[in-house]
Amino acid sequence: MTENQREEEIHVDEEEVQHLMQSLPKITLLNSKLELVNYQGFWHPHILNYFKSTLMFQRHFHARNTDIIIASFPKTGTTWLKSLLFAVVNRFRYPKNQNPLLKHHPHELVFRLEVDVYGDAFEYPRPHHLNELPSPRLLHTHLPYTSLPESIKTSACRILYISRNPLDTIVSSYYFFLEYMKNIQGDQDFNHVTIEEFCEDFCAGRTAHGPFFEHVVGYWKQSLERPDKVLFLKYEDLKDDTRFYVKKLAEFVGMPFSSKEESEGVVEEIIELCSIKNLKELEVNKSGVINKFFEKKSYFRKGEVGDWTHHFTPSMVERINNLMQDKLEGTALSFKMLSSQ
Ligand code: A3P
Repeated sequence: MTENQREEEIHVDEEEVQHLMQSLPKITLLNSKLELVNYQGFWHPHILNYFKSTLMFQRHFHARNTDIIIASFPKTGTTWLKSLLFAVVNRFRYPKNQNPLLKHHPHELVFRLEVDVYGDAFEYPRPHHLNELPSPRLLHTHLPYTSLPESIKTSACRILYISRNPLDTIVSSYYFFLEYMKNIQGDQDFNHVTIEEFCEDFCAGRTAHGPFFEHVVGYWKQSLERPDKVLFLKYEDLKDDTRFYVKKLAEFVGMPFSSKEESEGVVEEIIELCSIKNLKELEVNKSGVINKFFEKKSYFRKGEVGDWTHHFTPSMVERINNLMQDKLEGTALSFKMLSSQ
């Protein structure tokens, strides 16, 4: 690396990338144009030079001890966690009415490493390079634990993993997939992929960043082995008791709320700012796209626990429950399927 070269601009050898790509299994998702490539046991979307930027991230990223990294399987609450983490960590930096969350989509504030940082397909200009991000750097990845760069695993940086029950994750992924397909294929009639078909592929692991259970269990095990390093959160818990988990998050990242802040209602203000009701109504989140194809508004749909009850037949539910039992056996991990409110 030359003195002025940015870490995220060190490229990997193009020929090597092509060579590696050719050797990997590929599938096309549900008759769409979306190709998935199986790399290190997980299916990665073959878009936006994604594979190349994943390699760049894996090889060149140097985690700092102060970094805070959100990891997630798609559609499990990433956007929500990004907004909460950003609001908690930056609560002393901005006056209330100038919070950047009011003017930026959460994905524009907490960057995804394998796409926003190392990728080259931006709709918005690359805002900062890694060395310019204020400390602690807030970053995100959809990579499974096993594929993370060594420095994330060995440094003292912290990982916040958000998970969600598989039934709601499938429903949320399905609607996001339909939206995305309309945008990239220009196919207004893409609804001909049924949720049954989508669910079938999801259960077989054939889904972007899947298989789902392996992704979740990878981080779950780390959170048990190294609770100071990995905080494992569940979407359903966050919905049930947002206050408790926002405080837990703040403690985990070393910025607990003082009793003065608590009595002044700072926790509640953050919860309100980051609520789906509020974020959805902000002008900045109503139009425009993230990374060329992803409409900003499609990250805010219902935000409920149990939406699956409106979508699945009893036999589909049984199939997913059986799969879940099988995959989570012996892990002591379980999910709430319905809202307790
Ligand atoms: P639904 O499709 O079930 O509504 P991700 O951010 O990982 O892509 O996950 C998207 C899911 O989180 C969507 O779920 C979305 O509506 C929900 N979501 C987004 N922002 C949220 C918020 N502030 N509070 C609760 N849920 C939110």
